[in-house]
Amino acid sequence: MTPVIITPGALRARLDRFPRLPLGVYPTPLQPAPGLSRELGRAVLVKREDLSGLAFGGNKVRHVELLMAEVRRAGADTVINVMGYHSNNARLAAAACVRAGFRYHVFLRHAAGRPVQGNCLVDHLLGAAVHLLNDEESRRDLELARRVAERLRRAGAVPYVMNDESFPKLAGMIGFAGAGLELADQLRAAGVVGPVRVAGVAGRSLCGLALASLNLGLDWRFTGVRVASAPPLTDYVFRHAGTVRRRLDLPRTYAPADFDVVDRYAGPGGPAPAVLQAVRLAARADALMVDPNYTGVALAGLIDRIEDGGVGADETVVFVHTGGTPAIFSYAEELVPAETLAVTPAAQEGSSPAPARRAAMIASGS
Ligand SMILES: Cc1ncc(COP(=O)(O)O)c(C=O)c1O
Repeated sequence: MTPVIITPGALRARLDRFPRLPLGVYPTPLQPAPGLSRELGRAVLVKREDLSGLAFGGNKVRHVELLMAEVRRAGADTVINVMGYHSNNARLAAAACVRAGFRYHVFLRHAAGRPVQGNCLVDHLLGAAVHLLNDEESRRDLELARRVAERLRRAGAVPYVMNDESFPKLAGMIGFAGAGLELADQLRAAGVVGPVRVAGVAGRSLCGLALASLNLGLDWRFTGVRVASAPPLTDYVFRHAGTVRRRLDLPRTYAPADFDVVDRYAGPGGPAPAVLQAVRLAARADALMVDPNYTGVALAGLIDRIEDGGVGADETVVFVHTGGTPAIFSYAEELVPAETLAVTPAAQEGSSPAPARRAAMIASGS
């Protein structure tokens, strides 16, 4: 009879069937967030995937470790990726290609004429061939990428077009099943017993964590916050649930009912005021940097759920920080509005202590 759950060792063995190119620094820390805990009125732990170690870190490091091994297995030497202007995936695939020795072309939608900033800046620094698409080109992005792939193929390269392959969609879930094993160890070491509320961006990474908890028989509950740019989860994660279970040979897989999805921040328009507020709150409370596209949205959604009573009083809260921090530099005006910058020397004199006095206050801790 197939067991209902498996041991951590058995899950590890199944994950290890997928070769990976080690690129990250693991385990990523699980840290208390005392400031946020104080502000939110309950203890919050943060799983620091933003500290995963490669080119500003983030959840995609676990993904690209598997992806690079797959590209090598496929005999390719050039990776082609079509993503959005703010894409963290684009950045970390670029970084992984540097380390793996692959050439890399990235097509960034709606990027022509926009500042070379945030992830787009890092893509350039990492030596990617960056194709900045205008709005019209963005409508036929994949066609343009395939055309370049064809040209490279004729010139003797072996391209791997990420968007045409199924493995990149699975890699995130497989990688994060490994993060689930790590998190289970860390919670045990921290003496956490009872239910755990795992909150983060709704997507593959959260599904990977769910895969781990369901198969290990852990009492983890999931709040997934849908970000503005995300397609409906039915399109890009839930329909892969069966495939992931089969590929990993696991007794159980996740289903939509395993997730409490916060949808209110999905859709077009800039970051919502609550998201900007969450970015500022994390920074001021814990010197924790989250961003307006992903992790700030996840934090805003978690705050909503805590405030509306959707997180049980007995649950230990783990916020999964999936990275994305380079994007903050593209949101200076939204995050630090001009009026808050308008501190003239005269205004400063009246409102804040002189430098010498301020230094004394800092030294005395007042
Ligand atoms: C910072 C960040 N968090 C979360 C996600 C969601 O990714 P996934 O579906 O792989 O979990 C992304 C996707 O690009 C991201 O960049």
